[in-house]
Amino acid sequence: MEVIFKRRSIRRYQDKEVEKEKIEKLLRAAMQAPSAGNQRPWEFIVVKDKAILEKLSSVSPYSKMIAKANLAIVLLCNKKYMKYPEYWQQDIAAATQNLLLEAVYLGLGAVWLGIAPLKERMEYVKGIFNLPENIDVFSIVPVGYPLEENKFVDRYEENRVKFDRYE
Ligand SMILES: Cc1cc2nc3c(=O)[nH]c(=O)nc-3n(C[C@H](O)[C@H](O)[C@H](O)COP(=O)(O)O)c2cc1C
Repeated sequence: MEVIFKRRSIRRYQDKEVEKEKIEKLLRAAMQAPSAGNQRPWEFIVVKDKAILEKLSSVSPYSKMIAKANLAIVLLCNKKYMKYPEYWQQDIAAATQNLLLEAVYLGLGAVWLGIAPLKERMEYVKGIFNLPENIDVFSIVPVGYPLEENKFVDRYEENRVKFDRYE
């Protein structure tokens, strides 16, 4: 799959709206992810409001690019959907990765910003949206038409692979 190899973290975006159809495709890709027992615990907030993007950008020192994006998608967990609670972070990590790969496919650029399991970041984002107790925040993905290129870097490391035995 070409998009797996081309995908890079894109942190600078053109000042151009991402079309509604493309936003839906990103969300469809995210929701297509595997999850434990097919519990699909995810929910999403699509953020276009400049004032909210600005607030989100202060969640950590590594999220400043959100303020310059026209779009960010916040990936949440709704505990009411959980059948296997210990797996929720893995489920939403898979959804985050699907979203990133679909972004490349659509000619967009995006970056995964880690929120969970860091309590301080989770609480900060919860506060912005006034989220109820049963909702946790997993990641934020700013998305836009890229000013940097999604391009291949070879990360294959033969020494990380063992066959039959670990030696
Ligand atoms: C769990 C996780 C958290 C991350 N958090 C941030 C972040 O807060 N800010 C950021 O700029 N990049 C973040 N990244 C992106 C990584 O820095 C990036 O994936 C890594 O440097 C490899 O570069 P690449 O994505 O271009 O291949 C995060 C990635 C993951 C998987």
